[in-house]
Amino acid sequence: QPQAIIFDLDGVLTDTSEYHYQAWKHLADDEGIPFTHEENDAHLRGVGRRDSLMYLIRGRQYSEEQIQEMMNRKNQYYNELIKKMSPGEVVPGGQALLEEIRKAGIKTAIASASKNADIVLDRLKITSLFDGIADGYSVVNGKPAADIFVYAAGLVHVPTHNCLGVEDADAGIEAIKNAGMRALAIGPSERFKRPDKVIPTLANVRLQTLLEV
Ligand code: G6P
Ligand code: MG
Repeated sequence: QPQAIIFDLDGVLTDTSEYHYQAWKHLADDEGIPFTHEENDAHLRGVGRRDSLMYLIRGRQYSEEQIQEMMNRKNQYYNELIKKMSPGEVVPGGQALLEEIRKAGIKTAIASASKNADIVLDRLKITSLFDGIADGYSVVNGKPAADIFVYAAGLVHVPTHNCLGVEDADAGIEAIKNAGMRALAIGPSERFKRPDKVIPTLANVRLQTLLEV
């Protein structure tokens, strides 16, 4: 049984992936850049802010100053969307699952690439259900680098090989595997290269399912 379960946030515990999409779409529309939901899923899910923008503007010339301004603008759009979030936007059964994990004596942690993870956790009122929180300020190298999952394991003092990671993005599953952890993928199985187990959603999942990974 794992000693810690480390969760990605966006797209796993809540559907903020949709808000990230809407914010990028708003920016793309501003700039006259075509951008679809399918492209978002295939190329931007779980990808950091700068790399997401680089995908969006590929082949177009922008200065570093313009790049900075566009990243800020997208973040403002995203912040507008998340400030209206409420605890009802935690995946159904999410709070109960986290409580069940903690009652079983297993540590819980967040490994999110987002610099807005604290705000989202606060809006969802689930901050206190985690023993450690690693976010977009914690490490330099983003997923698929192992760093953020290794950092989160360190926060809860559990060796990485005793951790289970939960992710909805393939870059995240790669990060988990690179960290030497078991990996539970959330989403369609075609999305992932080397998960240990795939389930379509974390909704109404109980601890037993996580222990079977
Ligand atoms: C997570 C999300 C991505 C987002 C990234 C950076 O990985 O899944 O969609 O681009 O965090 O988030 P931030 O809020 O710092 O722009
Ligand atoms: Mg995610």
